[in-house]
Amino acid sequence: MQELDRIVADAEVAFAACATAPDLEQAKARFLGKAGALTELLKGLGKLPPEEKPRAGAAINEAKTRVEVLLAGRREALLAAELESRLAAESIDVTLPGRRQSAGGLHPITRAQAHIERLFASMGFSVADGPEIENDFYNFTALRMFPNHPSRSMQDTFYIAGSDKVLRTHTSPVQIRHMQSHTPPIRVICPGRVYRVDHDATHSPMFHQIEGLWVDEGISLADLKGTITQFCRAFFEREDIEIRFRPSYFPFVEPGVEIDMVWERKGDEVKFLEIGGAGVVHPDVLRNGKIDPERHSGFAFGMGLDRLAMLKYGVNDLRLFFENDLKFLRQFR
Ligand code: PHE
Repeated sequence: MQELDRIVADAEVAFAACATAPDLEQAKARFLGKAGALTELLKGLGKLPPEEKPRAGAAINEAKTRVEVLLAGRREALLAAELESRLAAESIDVTLPGRRQSAGGLHPITRAQAHIERLFASMGFSVADGPEIENDFYNFTALRMFPNHPSRSMQDTFYIAGSDKVLRTHTSPVQIRHMQSHTPPIRVICPGRVYRVDHDATHSPMFHQIEGLWVDEGISLADLKGTITQFCRAFFEREDIEIRFRPSYFPFVEPGVEIDMVWERKGDEVKFLEIGGAGVVHPDVLRNGKIDPERHSGFAFGMGLDRLAMLKYGVNDLRLFFENDLKFLRQFR
């Protein structure tokens, strides 16, 4: 009897020491297996005198049951522990904030450009496009900026050595390309990137312009003034905006003007802001675009898109637009 108690106690210690299910099966064999301690005792029953057999057999069986109960208990404990650790490892904390895919936003220049395109579309203008790597001819000569003409030095650009290619210095070459492939009436704007050798708070080597061209019979500076005034009032959402033309010179228009916009009035003092150049398309430029200047006339303008965006959004340094600082850009989402 004492021996049985010892076996049961041994089994309890052995089972408790098992950390995994396979370990436990190994330990089980030591007590209940074919050569296990209890099995050996049962085998030994045959050698006992017949009157002792029932009592001894019952005692061994009782011990066997106790070991089986201990085994089942330990099995369950191990299973529960395994489940526990799996749950802990694979747990999801549903109270954590979700990982959001942050939505991108349009760049302020893109936004302003789309707005401007919409406004001009409402006045019947469509959008034309041209190459940023332009021929010397379209960028300069066709616009009467002849080789060695001083006006070329106002628009110093990036020349590509050994070729007649330049990064376009303005969107005006699109005027020529568009006239060559279309017949009047022509009413287009051409937004896009342009390049000059310039770099400070208000100039960047790459910037954006919006060209406008309207060619038809009897188009004059009055149409230009009306169009630009309408546009500025709609774009800045201010009915009080007025436009002033200041005489200026561009080889491809005659007369040529600088467009100023009345921005602020303080008593008698008026603050003007320059927003672009414009004029009546020069007859030779119409001819270069295969249009008869005896029959058709037109106006053209070129506005600084970045400048318009800076005024609209109250940005005071042009370079902010091109530094890709998300803290700045996110404000426009
Ligand atoms: N292309 C000129 C510039 O970039 C602007 C302009 C366009 C002037 C059309 C007159 C007519 O300075």
